[in-house]
Order: sequence, then C-alpha cells, then structure tokens
Amino acid sequence: MAQIFKPSSNTVARFSLFLGLSAPVILGLAGAAVSRSSLNTKVNVPKNQPVPFSHQHHAWELGIDCRYCHVSVEKSAQAGIPGTETCMSCHSQIWTNSPLLEPVRKSYEENIPLKWNLVNKVPEFVYFNHSIHINRGINCNQCHGPVQQMHITAKGNSFQMQWCLECHRAPEKYLMADKANPGLTPRQQVFELYWKVQRQEKLTAREEALVTGGTARSEKAEDVTAGKELVQKYGIKTQQLSDCGVCHR
Ligand code: HEC
Ligand code: HEC
Ligand code: HEC
Ligand code: HEC
Ligand code: HEC
Repeated sequence: MAQIFKPSSNTVARFSLFLGLSAPVILGLAGAAVSRSSLNTKVNVPKNQPVPFSHQHHAWELGIDCRYCHVSVEKSAQAGIPGTETCMSCHSQIWTNSPLLEPVRKSYEENIPLKWNLVNKVPEFVYFNHSIHINRGINCNQCHGPVQQMHITAKGNSFQMQWCLECHRAPEKYLMADKANPGLTPRQQVFELYWKVQRQEKLTAREEALVTGGTARSEKAEDVTAGKELVQKYGIKTQQLSDCGVCHR
C-alpha cells in the first residue's frame, strides 16, 4: 500500500491503467508526485495576510457565526472568503480609526479586493466539496483545527491523501451527534457546537476535544457503535468512500 501514497510516475501509470482513471487525472497525479511536500504540509504555520484578521476576536470573543463570512460553506464546494463589504458592515462604524484596518478601508474606497493568502489548498487533481461534509455533521475544526482560537489563521491538518482516507475508511470513528439535541440536522449541529460554547454550556469530552483540540476521533466502543448507527442512518457506503474516483475524477 505504501506505494499508493508515494508513487513514482511509473506506479501512477500502472495504477491508472488498473483503475481506469481518465487521462487528465493521470497527468495531474504524475506531476504531483514530484512536488508534493512544498505546499501541502505546512501545518500550524500562520501565513502573512494583508490585514491581521483574527478568528479568535471575531469567531470566539465576538461570537460571529462562521456563515456570516463563509457564506457558501453549507451549500457548495467552496466555503468562500468574505469580501471587504462584509468587514465594513461593522468597521465603517467601529474601530474606524484603527491603523490595522487601513488596508480594509482602502480596499473599500478603491473597490479593490484584499489579497488574502490562501492557507488551505488541495492540488487541482483532487476534488473536494464542503457541503457534503457539513451535511454529514463534520465540524470545521475536524479538518481545520481550532480555528476559533487562532489569531492568525494557520493550516490545521496536512490534507494529505492518507489523512483524508483515515476518515473515509472508518467514518464511524469520527461521526457524532448531539444526544441532548436530537432534533437538529447534522448540518445544524456543526454550527450549534460553536453556539454552545458561546452560551457557556457544558460540553461532552468529545465536543471539548473537537472545539479545543480539533478532532472528534474516538476509538471507544460506545462512540464507534453510535458512529456506525450514523453511517447507516446517513446511507454512507464506507466501502466506496475510499475509491480513487471519489476524490480523483
Ligand atoms: C460583526 C462585526 C464585525 C465584522 C463583520 C468584522 N469585524 Fe473586525 N472587529 C470587530 C470588533 C468589535 C473588533 C474589536 C475586537 C476587540 O479588539 O475586542 C474588531 C477588530 C478587528 C481588528 C483589530 C483592530 C485593532 O485595531 O485592534 C481587525 C484587524 C479586524 N477587526 C479586521 C476585520 C476584517 C478584515 C473583517 C472582514 C473579514 C472584519 N474585521 C469583520 C467587529 C467586526
Ligand atoms: C468576520 C468574518 C469571519 C468569520 C466570522 C469567520 N471567518 Fe474564517 N476567515 C475570514 C477571513 C477574512 C479569512 C481569510 C484570512 C485568514 O486566513 O485569516 C478566513 C479564513 C478562514 C480559513 C482559512 C481559509 C484558507 O485560506 O484556506 C478557515 C479554515 C476559516 N476561515 C474557518 C472559519 C470557521 C470555522 C469559522 C467559524 C468558527 C470562521 N472561519 C469564521 C473571515 C471570517
Ligand atoms: C472534511 C474536511 C473539511 C471540513 C469539515 C471543512 N473544511 Fe474547509 N477546507 C477543507 C479543504 C480540503 C480545503 C481546501 C479546498 C480546496 O483546495 O479546494 C478547505 C478550504 C476552506 C476555505 C478556503 C477555500 C474556500 O473553500 O473558500 C475556507 C474559508 C474553509 N475551508 C472554511 C471552512 C468552514 C467555515 C468550515 C465549517 C463550516 C469548513 N471549512 C469545514 C476541508 C474541510
Ligand atoms: C472526518 C471525516 C472526513 C474527512 C477528514 C474527510 N472526509 Fe470526505 N467525506 C466524509 C463523509 C462522511 C462523506 C459523505 C459520504 C456519503 O454521504 O456517502 C465524504 C464525502 C466526500 C466526497 C464525496 C462528495 C460527493 O459529492 O460525492 C469527496 C469528494 C470527499 N469526501 C473528499 C475528501 C477529501 C479530498 C478529504 C481530505 C482533504 C476528505 N474528504 C476528508 C468524511 C470525511
Ligand atoms: C478521500 C480522498 C482521496 C481518495 C479516496 C484517494 N485520494 Fe489520492 N489524493 C488525495 C489527496 C488529498 C491528494 C493530494 C495530497 C497528497 O499528495 O497526499 C492525493 C494525491 C494522490 C496522488 C499524487 C501523489 C502524491 O502522493 O502526492 C496519487 C498518485 C493518488 N492520490 C492516487 C490515488 C489512488 C490510486 C487512489 C485509490 C486507491 C486514491 N488516490 C484515492 C485524496 C484522495
């Protein structure tokens, strides 16, 4: 199996024949084998940004919902980065003299978008979709780490193939539902967890781990049993979830 994760272009070609992957996918995969480490592994390293935007201030201390800024995260593949107007909905009225916000005001006046540096990126040949994960109740932190505690945003996980596959092979170890709120849809639960924190409600040990440590993974028998029930309830076909074609189309 190790070869699947670090193939030479030769292995890629052989695999592609074997798997019947399409030509553009094969080219993409072969190229990537050479340059894999440069971009993809910088976990926990904050990136320079035009404005020192803090999730800790905005999402944790002020309690602004993720969806206020990442408007498309439940509905589409991309979460979306907010435009300057979103910042100015508040900052035309508060902290209006802050020098740190000068680039935001300039961007607004000149109608030129801020150039945020993307922190998370999978290569072109990998298909990813936010909405399906949110709709299965997978919290942002599971993939991005404890974002609401970050001053400057950093990558929370490697996003290497093996990391994706760990969950795709055994989603029952990750899926969980809030027993205290059985009426919530999985998607609502993703955001409700952040609101629970705002309301200072008691969290379960697993919720706490997700909020502060960035993972819901559990090997405990009762958690795995509950996870298996969710797999069944959501109709997840675990067998097919690690097929190459799910992520390489
Ligand atoms: C819902 C209102 C709201 C929105 C929307 C908002 N902010 Fe803020 N922001 C605040 C408040 C309130 C503070 C002060 C927080 C504090 O220091 O306790 C703040 C502080 C800041 C600061 C620190 C300013 C300083 O001098 O310390 C920066 C930088 C900032 N925001 C950037 C942004 C950017 C960029 C956006 C858009 C992506 C944005 N904010 C959207 C309310 C908002
Ligand atoms: C007030 C607006 C605002 C809110 C609320 C907000 N974000 Fe963000 N988020 C931003 C901005 C602006 C960026 C781009 C700058 C950066 O990376 O910090 C960003 C970037 C990110 C990134 C990195 C994107 C990349 O570059 O790959 C993640 C992940 C993220 N946000 C998750 C969240 C989560 C999870 C929440 C809710 C807990 C949240 N955000 C709430 C404005 C917001
Ligand atoms: C299953 C893992 C996973 C979950 C859950 C997840 N993300 Fe992401 N996120 C990713 C990956 C992978 C990328 C890079 C996607 C790419 O390169 O196309 C990304 C990119 C982003 C980006 C930057 C690019 C974009 O899509 O606009 C933002 C912002 C973001 N995520 C916010 C969020 C928020 C907010 C949540 C929760 C509501 C969330 N993510 C949940 C894996 C995840
Ligand atoms: C914590 C668990 C988890 C992680 C981590 C995760 N996924 Fe998923 N993924 C799921 C689940 C659950 C589904 C839904 C399967 C279903 O409903 O049949 C899914 C579905 C998908 C789909 C199918 C989307 C569709 O429209 O058919 C793609 C593509 C995907 N994931 C890509 C990725 C990639 C790429 C990564 C790593 C960057 C990743 N996932 C990380 C759990 C996860
Ligand atoms: C859950 C999503 C997912 C599935 C399923 C998946 N991959 Fe990947 N694959 C990725 C991601 C993400 C990357 C890019 C990150 C990396 O290089 O690890 C990647 C990269 C690759 C690469 C580039 C070389 C490398 O290691 O950087 C090859 C080759 C590859 N995958 C082959 C396969 C094959 C063959 C299968 C089926 C056995 C498969 N993948 C199944 C997500 C997936």
